[in-house]
Amino acid sequence: MISAIRGTHDILPGEVERWQGLERVTRELCACYGFRELRTPIIEREELFAKGTGQTTDIVQKEMYTFEDKGGERVTLRPEATPSMVRAFFEHALEQRLPAAKVFSLGPMFRYERPQKGRYRQFHQLDVEVFGEPGASLDAEMIEMASSLVSSLGIESSDIVINSVGCESCRSQFNQALLDALGNKLDQLCPDCQRRAKTNPLRIYDCKVLSDQPIIDELPHSVDHLCADCNNHFCEVRTYLDAYELDYRVSHRLVRGLDYYTRTTFEVLGEQLGAQNALLGGGRYDGLVRQLGGPSREGIGFAAGLERLVLAMPEEVEGRGVDVFIVALGENTKKQAHVLARDLRQQGLVTLIDYNVRSLRAQMKRADRTSARAAIILGDDELSRGEVTIKFMETGEQTTVARTDILQQLSQ
Ligand code: HAM
Repeated sequence: MISAIRGTHDILPGEVERWQGLERVTRELCACYGFRELRTPIIEREELFAKGTGQTTDIVQKEMYTFEDKGGERVTLRPEATPSMVRAFFEHALEQRLPAAKVFSLGPMFRYERPQKGRYRQFHQLDVEVFGEPGASLDAEMIEMASSLVSSLGIESSDIVINSVGCESCRSQFNQALLDALGNKLDQLCPDCQRRAKTNPLRIYDCKVLSDQPIIDELPHSVDHLCADCNNHFCEVRTYLDAYELDYRVSHRLVRGLDYYTRTTFEVLGEQLGAQNALLGGGRYDGLVRQLGGPSREGIGFAAGLERLVLAMPEEVEGRGVDVFIVALGENTKKQAHVLARDLRQQGLVTLIDYNVRSLRAQMKRADRTSARAAIILGDDELSRGEVTIKFMETGEQTTVARTDILQQLSQ
């Protein structure tokens, strides 16, 4: 058999119900916060991510599924949703059409990463974005929403981490401060960090190489190098978080692996997820819309990895069980049994039926195996009287009722 591609996975019956539960909770939550759904294509111009996600990111440098299509255009399977959401929002002037500039999306993303538990090459994200709102109260609302998402899925233990990476002007000063602090220790760092020092020194904080850590631990923190406006903004975010009575911690290492962030960054980490423990991550990106050729609008959002949420969710969400198994006795009743199955399905009952002519015993055995709540037995006699026999599988109790009374009988 041809097998699935490495890093991709099938979502099997049994798991699918957990996904549906997750999607339902997610959509309801987004609606409550005033978000409207926006679905964008999986495939976009390479340029959108090169400019949006950023040239210095691992995503753009190493992980994108990019190819030339038959028309000679360079196209990319989206590695994240944010640039697409920005593009679509402003391409369709949604600002004028929606009550609030808040949009969300659910769907697959593609990154050529090394697969491991919680990390895949095709994975799914809930992505939420808000445009044109500079106020710190929104940053706090997004963090609170992220926290509510996690808790409304029944995930009890999680850790909210925040930071501020400043704006364009304080960032460049901070980058210089990082380089000054590194001084001649730079050549003791790994080759990736040496490259980061040239392209985006802040990203040195992403480094996982053990031998680099003692040097990185001594580096300055972005929150100590914020300009007055960014500092006020960050303090205000924190006062709102306190008003929500949210438990959070500030981590100077939370610089996030994408180029567009300004000011607030945040992640919610799950416990017991292992190395890939970020359930979701996001932040403010006040320059991105403009950078992609849109108007001067601020932006903020986050994306949650649905695979990771499913892994962290408690077990209990289950699929719908079978309500009825129809047992037809003899060729003659078979067609009527199928018509009955259609009628019961139209009334909302999960109904299964045997497609072959088998003995009563064989069919009852199948009914038992499906864990149906009841078997409906239809023989020639019942058919001629417009009746059926209902057998409740758990108690073995059996009763004969008019065909029109089945639903009423089953709901007792
Ligand atoms: P990100 O941190 O790259 O941010 O991804 C967000 C979340 O997607 C992660 O926290 C993780 O749960 C999940 N994720 C990422 N990569 C993988 C993978 N290979 N396998 C499984 N799950 C994964 C973004 O994508 C930004 N667009 C978030 C954002 C929205 N910022 C502002 N608006």
